[in-house]
Amino acid sequence: MGEEAASQGTASLVRSVEQAKPDTEIGEGPGHLLGLAFPTHGFTAPWRVIHFALKLPRRRGTHAFVTPTRAGIRIVWFIPGLEGTAGYLIGLILLLKGYCLRGVQGIDMPSNWMSLHWGLHPTNVSAIIERARVKTAAWFKGLLAGRRRLGGIIPLLLGIALIPVSLGYLLYGRFFLAKIFFASEKCDGCGLCAKNCPTRSLRMEGGRNPRPYWSFSCESCMRCMGFCPRQAVEASQPLVVLLSFLASVPVGYYLLQWLNRFLPQSAVGNWPLKVINYGYFLLSVYAAYRLFNWLIRVPLLNRLFTYTTLTHYYRRYHEPKTRLKDFKGNGE
Ligand SMILES: Cc1cc2nc3c(=O)[nH]c(=O)nc-3n(C[C@H](O)[C@H](O)[C@H](O)COP(=O)(O)O)c2cc1C
Repeated sequence: MGEEAASQGTASLVRSVEQAKPDTEIGEGPGHLLGLAFPTHGFTAPWRVIHFALKLPRRRGTHAFVTPTRAGIRIVWFIPGLEGTAGYLIGLILLLKGYCLRGVQGIDMPSNWMSLHWGLHPTNVSAIIERARVKTAAWFKGLLAGRRRLGGIIPLLLGIALIPVSLGYLLYGRFFLAKIFFASEKCDGCGLCAKNCPTRSLRMEGGRNPRPYWSFSCESCMRCMGFCPRQAVEASQPLVVLLSFLASVPVGYYLLQWLNRFLPQSAVGNWPLKVINYGYFLLSVYAAYRLFNWLIRVPLLNRLFTYTTLTHYYRRYHEPKTRLKDFKGNGE
């Protein structure tokens, strides 16, 4: 988009969320255009982006557009991702802040959810990126020409239908997923992952032999996994099974059944129980991960988790033109 603007003689500033200074960099009025581009997480915008949008300064009449990126894949044919409410949620926040919403459009980039699947083959990566480049340029050209380019009713209806999944992701999924990462024995404690984490969610622990530790604010963006020079960041599938068990049955189930007998039933559903259930979920996931983090310091157990983890056999991926140095400036 920056290139397209330049080719039309329009000045533009491309900033990462980590580097942006919205108060001074966003102008007021229809002569300015603000665009937010970000990956879709769990069929909505990542919490970090929602937070960023909520903190944006109010601007009366400044034009704005939103382009959530989605998980495109290519298996013989090209298969698009699903942005759910990602675009329209951020669009709504911008509208409420006084911006004039001119465009919402999902863009398919190569899927990077590497704790779920292997990094795409470089041939497919280039094909998907080239397709995104052409589509984005055409879309953005129309926007610069003054046209309103909202994504249409079908993505909006799909997004609304997916709201329960998005809420589940924001309340449960992202905390749960942050707790499946660990560093294998290949980790040499260089700390690059912690230094470049966009949410500052990794802590190096372990004295003379430091290892990264993922905290609750991790958004599973996969930067640590995609950029680790030793491919030492793994996501443990066996731990997923263990965590699901601990966070639900049998302790949670029996405890909640027992508590249910004493808690007042409210007219709007059994919300005290739901709150306790949620607290229990967060606490059990946190406790299990602390235990796990301690266990994987034992070399034999670390090896056991490493070799029973699918990511150990997966190809890694990050957007090919992006380098670690592009993230510098994030408070370093
Ligand atoms: C935790 C996580 C959740 C994701 N959820 C979705 C999703 O709901 N829908 C989708 O189309 N892509 C989803 N993706 C894929 C990314 O949105 C996609 O790979 C990304 O937009 C790639 O763009 P980028 O390389 O510009 O970041 C998810 C990825 C991660 C890591």
